[in-house]
Formats: sequence, C-alpha cells, structure tokens
Amino acid sequence: MTFESKAIRDAFPALCEGAAHFDAPGGSLVPAVVADAVRDALASAVCQRGSNTRAERRTDAIVLAARQAMGDLLGADPAGVIFGRSMTQLTFDLSRTLAKTWRTGDEIVVSRLDHDANIRPWLYAAQRAGVTVRWIEFDPETSEIEVEDVTAQLSERTRLVAITAASNLIGTRPPIPEIAAKVHEAGALIYVDGVHNTPHAFVDVAEMGADFYACSPYKFCGPHLGVLAAAPSLLQTLDPDKLLPSVNTVPERFELGTPAFELYAGTTAAVEFLAGLGGDPAASRRARLEASLAAMGEHEDALRRVIEARLAQHPRVTAHSRAQSRTPTLLFTVEGMEPREVSARLGALDINVPSGNFYALEASRALGLGDAGGVRIGLAPYNSADDVDRLLDALDAIIV
Ligand SMILES: Cc1ncc(COP(=O)(O)O)c(C=O)c1O
Repeated sequence: MTFESKAIRDAFPALCEGAAHFDAPGGSLVPAVVADAVRDALASAVCQRGSNTRAERRTDAIVLAARQAMGDLLGADPAGVIFGRSMTQLTFDLSRTLAKTWRTGDEIVVSRLDHDANIRPWLYAAQRAGVTVRWIEFDPETSEIEVEDVTAQLSERTRLVAITAASNLIGTRPPIPEIAAKVHEAGALIYVDGVHNTPHAFVDVAEMGADFYACSPYKFCGPHLGVLAAAPSLLQTLDPDKLLPSVNTVPERFELGTPAFELYAGTTAAVEFLAGLGGDPAASRRARLEASLAAMGEHEDALRRVIEARLAQHPRVTAHSRAQSRTPTLLFTVEGMEPREVSARLGALDINVPSGNFYALEASRALGLGDAGGVRIGLAPYNSADDVDRLLDALDAIIV
C-alpha cells in the first residue's frame, strides 16, 4: 500500500467532505477503525478495572492494551505510561509534583521555541517554589536551537530542562539526544514535549534520553487524550497530589479520576492503524511502526519539498521554517496580507490551512510575528499530491 493509494484515504471518513486538510498539527483526522474502537468500548460493558466481572476484566484489558500500544509507539515501558485529558493537563500536574522537590535558589530552564504548554506550567510552578527560570533562545534566522544554546543555561542548580522535540510552529527538531546528555551531566531532568514530533518520527524515548516524554494521540490519528511516558522507577520517586482512596501504584497514581476508557481503546486502535501502514505484517508492532513511520516521513517530506519550491517562487512570501532537521510543517507570511486573511481565503475554497501563533506565543514573538503569527501548512499521511496541487494553485491565485 503506498501513501498515495486510495486505500489510505478511504480509511478516513472525514475526507468524504471534500476539503483538503493541512491542519493536522492542530488535530489530525481519525480513521474509521479508531472511531469504531471508541464506539465498541462505549457500547460494551465497561465499568471500573478489576477481576471479578467480565466488565471489570474488559476495562482492565482496555487500559493495559493502551499502555502497551503507547509503549510500542514510544519505545517506553508500558508501566510508565500515564494517560490524561491532554498534554497541557499532564504537564501542569507534573509541574506541581516536581516543584515539591525544588528548593529556593534552584533553577529550571525553558525554551523560547516551545508551545506554551511546555512553558507556562513550569513558570507558575517556579514562581510558587521560588525557583529561577532561565531561557533557551532559538535563532530566528536559522530556526535552530544548538546544543550550546542549552549548555549556556545549565548550572549545578538546574533541576529541570523543558524543551520540545519538534516545534509545532516552524517544525524545528532540536538535537534532543545531545541536549539530554548535557542535561544529565548537569544532574537535571529533561521533560520533552513530543506532541508535534510523535506523528512524524519513530520515537525511542530511551535513545532520546528523555526523562519525561509527553504527546497527544489526537495528533496521530487517535482520540483527544494526552500521554506522558517516563521510567516507572523515576515515577516511583514522585508524590503527586491524589485522592486518598485511589490506588497509589505507578502509573495509576498520576491518573486522576475515572479514566476515559473508550478513548484508551481508540488510542490502541490508532497505534495499530499506524503500524498497519507499512512493514512486514508478521513483524512485531514496534518493528511495523518503525517501517510505517519511515514511509510516512518520506511521503510527507516529498510533498513538503514540492510546496517549499513553489512558495519560494513568490517574492512576497517569507518561509519561517528553515531548520536542517524539521517536520513537514511550514509557517509562512505574505507581505501586505494578514495571516488570517490568507487562511480565510483558502478556507472559502475548502482548503484548511490555519493561521495564528498556535500557542507557540513566545516563538511567534521571537520571530517578529507578534501574536498574529503566520499561516501554517501541516502535512499528514492522508495528504495527496492532488491536495498539494489544489493548495498551490489557490495560493498562486491569492498571492498575486
Ligand atoms: C507542540 C505542542 N505541545 C503541546 C500541545 C498541547 O497539547 P494538548 O492539546 O494535548 O494539551 C500542542 C497542541 O497543539 C502542541 O502542538
């Protein structure tokens, strides 16, 4: 099955509306198998986890399957996979938990490139704990963060570095393994925002050196949930606020309230769907994921190069996505046109290309784009060459 095949696009019922979707970084479309898995879980007897009744055993199996699926996707120990409502919620929760271990005079480091979900929770926690915040800057000309930009902010007082594995605004992929090695040399922890990275990369949390890796299934064809992966041994050392009667085991003690079991089932289906897009059907799910993410990456990068080449022909267009290593996510601005006007005119043609700062507010300001940001083209496995032709022809007509 190639990525241009009808079979891939047929898997996504929403495509029958006829729109061309370049909005996946905000939330990808969902294949029917994922919607079916959510529906099936809701329609079957599911209550609380346990071993007495069929419903309890089914609920337990749904949870364990979802942890295993995320473990396979991220190369993480399933026993350290935490689910939450969103990455934002999980990050706020963990920031409060980690801050209990910080002392006045300690330091944390955040990055200007990041989505606000990996900045603001840490700033609030630092303020409450009396901890100093230091900033990693990126170069707006090259879009890059160099390892030295990080090491310059480290000291023996550093407790945590929060940084993205890929910018949802301009696609930059900082060199996380090298950065993680330096962070660990300084005796600190590294919290990696993998929300925008996970749909485009074969992730190996251990190889990356991330102590914490957060992502969101709704960005990779799954339901609206957040996931945080960490080594169970590290989670054992942490003491989150929780209800007294709820279990104190890891990872459960980090999951507040009754989980959205049906969305867990949908997450398993999404991982299974991704694994089915490439590789030898007899291979392990992890091996199939490696093959399919490589094939997806090639497909998306090929489309990205076509778009970049055409955008470069427009003298009024500035492309802001310039990093050597980047996701297929392009931010551009048009001289003399507001980003929202470009999006609105494309939207009127059923071509979904959103505009804004996409919550990467610090990055948008650092790029000189203020709060209005730019226009973002994001590619997904279901995008076709026809989608791209449609987009580029429309842009030629709009940007005269
Ligand atoms: C890079 C990045 N980090 C964090 C988030 C926040 O994720 P969630 O919506 O799961 O809180 C997003 C959402 O767009 C994102 O793109």
